[in-house]
Formats: sequence, C-alpha cells, structure tokens
Amino acid sequence: MLKTTSDFLGMKRNGEKITMLTAYDYPTAKFAEEAGIDMVLVGDSVGMVVLGYDSTVLVTMDDMIHHGKAARKGSPNTFLVVDMPFGTYHGSLDQSLTNAVKIMQQTNAQAVKVEGADDVLPVIQKLTSAGIPVIAHLGLTPQSAGVLGGYKVQGKTVEAAEKLIEDAKKCELAGACSVVLECIPFQLTEKVSASLTIPTIGIGAGVSADGQVLVFHDMVKYGTHHVPKFVHEFANVGVSIVEGISQYVQDVKNETFPAEKHSFTMKEDQLQQLYG
Ligand code: KIV
Ligand code: NA
Repeated sequence: MLKTTSDFLGMKRNGEKITMLTAYDYPTAKFAEEAGIDMVLVGDSVGMVVLGYDSTVLVTMDDMIHHGKAARKGSPNTFLVVDMPFGTYHGSLDQSLTNAVKIMQQTNAQAVKVEGADDVLPVIQKLTSAGIPVIAHLGLTPQSAGVLGGYKVQGKTVEAAEKLIEDAKKCELAGACSVVLECIPFQLTEKVSASLTIPTIGIGAGVSADGQVLVFHDMVKYGTHHVPKFVHEFANVGVSIVEGISQYVQDVKNETFPAEKHSFTMKEDQLQQLYG
C-alpha cells in the first residue's frame, strides 16, 4: 500500500527500517513494488546509469519528468520521490517552486528531493509550505561534485561532522520529511539519526541510518562498470543478459533460431495457388 510521510516517521519511531531503491522506468519500478520497496526514487543518477553521462549535472527537468512518469506507471502504490535536477532550485524561490510543482503534477510523485543545506534551506521551507514533501540530501551531494573536488566521503573531520549534524537539524526545522545521507562515516550517521525526529536514509553511510537506498543498476549489476565500495551485489543480471544476447547471435548465424514453433504458416490450398 502507498505509505505516507507519517508512516515513515512511525517506522523510525518503531525501529523498522525504510527501504528505498532507484527506478527510472516502468519495469524496474514494477519490480521494486513487487519486492516490497517502501520508496521508489527517480534519482538524477538516471543521467549516469541510464543515459551514460559522466555526471548528474547534465540531467534536465524533461529527463526527470520523462522517467518519473514511467516509474509512476510501474509502481502506482509506492511512495515515489523525484530528484530536482541540477540548477532547478538555485534561482529564485518562485522558480524553484514552479519547477517542483511541475515535477509533482507531471509525475504524480509523493515528494521531491534536493541536495544540500545553506541556500537550499529556504527552498525546503518554501516547497513544504506549498504542500510538497521534501527529502533533503546531505554528505556527498553529486550535483556539487565539481565543488567538492570529486566523489569523496564527506564529514570525516570534527568540523565537517559538526556542520553536517547542524545542517541535518536545519533541514528538519525547514520542514524536510526525511534526509538522505550519502557517503559519510557510519559513526556520524548514528549521531545524525539520533538527533532527528525525521528518518535518515543512508547510502554508503552504515547500518544505523533509519533506512537504506541503493541505485538499482549498481545493486543488480546492470550495465555498470564501476560500482562503489558501499554497494553489495544482490544480483548480477548483466551476465545473464550478455549470455542471452550471445546465444541469440549464435542461433541466428547457425539458423537454429527462429525454429518452426516461432514461425507462421499458410493453408495448403493457398500455398498451391501461390506456387502452382
Ligand atoms: O540520484 C540518486 O540515485 C540519488 C541516490 C543515490 C540517493 O540521489
Ligand atoms: Na540524486
């Protein structure tokens, strides 16, 4: 059944872990719902794992809406979160709201996700007061990889850790319904999670987050060449896909495919008339 933000608060209170997985299309979202995922994330990671870009910076509103619509169709009964892409919530607050409303209305999502604190805090507040549930995203924020100097673990020093704890509290205060924590030391995750009422959802952030999120293509090894240290390979579909395609190539070359059972035929009298 479609859970709500208050269900997730309750899950945190009761110590029940929240599961989130990315999906960017109909079949994946359908698989996720079938498997009992609590939240489907149409992440801007779509740019990297589906569109082949080298960062999430190139992802557009149209990309997110295109994939969001497809994912919605596949998981109609799962809480759907759509990432706001790079640059779409850093102009005026009004422009940020316009973009978030567009995503919500065109994808029928339950929430949007934005990266960072600081200048993004007023955005979280603005969207939340407009009725849009917002998930914050702290630690390694891929849209800022250029400024961070790459995809590195964050919050490793006292100073950085203290800032992250404060940022997380500010996100909660601004109205965020959850906070994604990406690539931070597990001890910091424990501290942040204990400091908040809203659930934390970790990726590369250890076991003490209130929930976990992974990128679908990474966890089933579907076309990804570099998989980060924090990902467990829960399946390896890439291998069976290549095996299947190679078999197809072979069978076409040696004429074992298509077989008679894959072919259509004509009635005998029609054949007679055709060939005499
Ligand atoms: O885009 C994405 O997949 C994400 C998750 C890694 C949290 O933001
Ligand atoms: Na993202």
